[in-house]
Amino acid sequence: MTDSITTIRARIQDARREAEARGISSPKVVLVPTMGALHDGHLTLVDHARTLGDVVVVSIFVNPLQFGPNEDLSTYPRTLDVDVAKLAERDVHLVFAPTAAEMYPDGNVGTRVVAGEAGTTFEGRTRPGHFDGMLTVVSKLFHIVSPDIAVFGEKDRQQLFLVKRMVRDLNIPVEVHGVPIVRAEDGLALSSRNAFLSDEERQSALTLSRALEAAVAAEARGIDAAVAAAQSVLDGESAIELDYLAAVNPDTFGPVDSGYTGAVVVLVAAKVGSTRLIDNRTLAVS
Ligand code: PAJ
Repeated sequence: MTDSITTIRARIQDARREAEARGISSPKVVLVPTMGALHDGHLTLVDHARTLGDVVVVSIFVNPLQFGPNEDLSTYPRTLDVDVAKLAERDVHLVFAPTAAEMYPDGNVGTRVVAGEAGTTFEGRTRPGHFDGMLTVVSKLFHIVSPDIAVFGEKDRQQLFLVKRMVRDLNIPVEVHGVPIVRAEDGLALSSRNAFLSDEERQSALTLSRALEAAVAAEARGIDAAVAAAQSVLDGESAIELDYLAAVNPDTFGPVDSGYTGAVVVLVAAKVGSTRLIDNRTLAVS
């Protein structure tokens, strides 16, 4: 593990050379960006990364730039030693865990990546500036690590969409791979923020995945019926404060019209107590 940009670059360079020495002619570097507090969702991305390339790099950085003034930056779970041990168990030793001062030596950045219109809806509407901060740090990580491939989870579907679009818009030479959501046995999407939930809140949180399950069960009856099915599950749980339930076109992230057919992503975001949770499912609406 290193917190230094210079060191991680040198170690990646060494790992490329070692792979070449083992007979791999152009070794592929795969980056998995995270904010730590690693759970099985993150570790699934790491396992997937290993199948895609030869040198796996995991970054762990709780990026202040993507947190709003009233968000959970100061309380966000930080478990660096445990995270590094979990990665070592998987034989991942290229861990880049910089300090905020290493990433933002001036305390802030003068230059930012702007997510544009699609960064102001859904998560971006509730969390103004979040996606600009996220894209800025992802762009920095791409420049620091120079990965051939980067792996993101579908859990943060709007994030995945915006990262893919940034890569296309800015001609960044990296392939972006999305990995399906990893869930607990009861259906709850794994998230570092689940650690904040009391037992009772965790039960209420299941409403999100149950609502999406209801949407999938109703997909044969069309998009309106699917969204209505999800809405009625959410209406039945007073302990959650719904932020949005929406159906979007995965290619544009714009809302779909009534009667739309094809692939649709149903997104849900809600607060359970003081913890904000998100989830989504992809439907095939005919
Ligand atoms: P973080 O929330 O730590 O998530 C890191 C990666 O793990 C993201 O790509 C996220 O979508 C994925 N992930 C989280 N939970 C998952 C689950 N249950 N199943 C599958 N994938 C899951 O997302 C971020 O960090 C940050 O915004 C980051 C991209 C690192 C930039 O700061």
